[in-house]
Amino acid sequence: MAVSADLLPSLIMLSCIAVALLQFPIMTASQQTSITRHYQFDIQMKNVTRLCQTKSIVTVNGQFPGPKIVAREGDRVVVRVINHVPYNISLHWHGVRQLFSAWADGPAYITQCPIQSGQSYVYKFTIVGQRGTLWWHAHISWLRATVYGPIVILPKLGIPYPFAKPYKEIPVIFGEWWKADTEAIISQALQTGGGPNVSDAYTINGLPGLLYNCSAKDTFKLKVKPGKTYLLRIINAALNDELFFSIANHSLEIVEVDAVYVKPFTTKALLITPGQTTNVLLTTHAQYPGANFFMEARPYVTGQGTFDNTTVAGILEYENPNSFYSSSFNKNLPLFKPTLPVFNDTSFASNFTNKLRSLANTQYPANVPQTVDRQFFFTIGLGTNPCPKNQTCQGPNGTKFAATVNNVSFVLPKEALLQSHFSGKSNGVYASNFPIIPLMPFNYTGTPPNNTFVTNGTKVLVIPFNTSVELVLQDTSILGAESHPLHLHGFNFFAVGQGFGNYNPAKDPAKFNLVDPVERNTIGVPPGGWVAIRFLADNPGVWFMHCHLEVHTSWGLKMAWLVLDGNLPNQKLPPPPSDLPKC
Ligand code: C2O
Repeated sequence: MAVSADLLPSLIMLSCIAVALLQFPIMTASQQTSITRHYQFDIQMKNVTRLCQTKSIVTVNGQFPGPKIVAREGDRVVVRVINHVPYNISLHWHGVRQLFSAWADGPAYITQCPIQSGQSYVYKFTIVGQRGTLWWHAHISWLRATVYGPIVILPKLGIPYPFAKPYKEIPVIFGEWWKADTEAIISQALQTGGGPNVSDAYTINGLPGLLYNCSAKDTFKLKVKPGKTYLLRIINAALNDELFFSIANHSLEIVEVDAVYVKPFTTKALLITPGQTTNVLLTTHAQYPGANFFMEARPYVTGQGTFDNTTVAGILEYENPNSFYSSSFNKNLPLFKPTLPVFNDTSFASNFTNKLRSLANTQYPANVPQTVDRQFFFTIGLGTNPCPKNQTCQGPNGTKFAATVNNVSFVLPKEALLQSHFSGKSNGVYASNFPIIPLMPFNYTGTPPNNTFVTNGTKVLVIPFNTSVELVLQDTSILGAESHPLHLHGFNFFAVGQGFGNYNPAKDPAKFNLVDPVERNTIGVPPGGWVAIRFLADNPGVWFMHCHLEVHTSWGLKMAWLVLDGNLPNQKLPPPPSDLPKC
């Protein structure tokens, strides 16, 4: 067919339209492919041996770590949880925004009563506007010590990552292992008022690794090919320890934290607090290196107490292209070990966290609240409760350890806060007078006051729907300044500023980053320092906020926000599901 020159442009136009039309149905289809993903989680006991000792642990489906939940952004997730163990349980989908689905959030006595032995509850929620790695864990007492697993949120079908597609994706979950029963450990500690026993080991994907006694066979091995890029979905599920992580002779490219993309940067080591997730790209050497490489994690510690100073190691093992049998670990190869920051390397910690920035481009904007409706200032830290009469206590100077937000040590209620709010029966369950600033100001990071006693109560902070919140979290030096990984349920927040010493409301706001601050759900408040966060309270419900060091949560470093319904029909929390557990 002969085509005259003046027809050519319109033909090109036509074929463009044809291509566009071809793509259009595909795009529409991809938007409509949101599906419902069903899971059944049977909570059951299981005998597990680590460090040459066997104990019975609480698991999901007998797996440790627990099963992986996979969903695409936009999918609905339905998890039927059946409790077959002699403990009350509830599960939390850590970091999932739970927009208008607060009933599925999970913290016991906050959004639901726990699922009692023999009972079940179906968690239902939709993943909205999130992609990356999150995780789920038990949210009652210390059961999350063994009840946890990854949540992998893939981008919508047809939407690529904002980085090269990795060859493989691997969850790397850090945990903490005790030889003894963790429920006994925490209940005894709360009795005596002393610090709970520290863990015996850290784990990677449930395995302590060959640096521990009789654990060589319990070592996580990451088998890789040369010249490939792997996406490690790193989760810190440890109970009480922030962790440094590094792989010998390899760099890590950080691309996402807490299911939000970040501006990529390369680092030799990373820091991850309990509750946080970090996606990193690991590019292997181009050629078979003829060596094995340790990947190690050990704690970042700023507190005064004893801690588990051991190291978990896994092995990065290259497939040998010259060997037919590539799978078995070759002990004769040279072995390289990474250098990790020292235990108290706060300058590494703050340098690392300062590098985390939102991607903040047109496709993935950082919707930082530019104006603020309400400002709050919370001190966080330790304190004490007096020892009850006729008892000797093992806390500081014969007292009991406590921990607080604005000097309120949170007492778990007997009914779930969200249920009592929703049914209008909050009397005797909680008070709405959580202090928005410290009632007795002091030099928070200076010489601590002599009186370290705390107040105890179940107080919530009530805010209207769509309040733009600015919150400064200020560490105190009471019983020692310490880094606290604060976790907020129901929202992501932007970390707009941080510093050491006391927050200065006259000077510090001028330095806030309102352009590309990191967006996340858990942030380390620097030891003897502060962070300022902002979030839009666009999600009605009762939202727990607490230190993700479980020992501090147990001592009361927790509080709850009550975000009221908005006026419009689509701004209201729907009624609870009929199977919501009763107390
Ligand atoms: Cu990951 Cu309230 O917890």
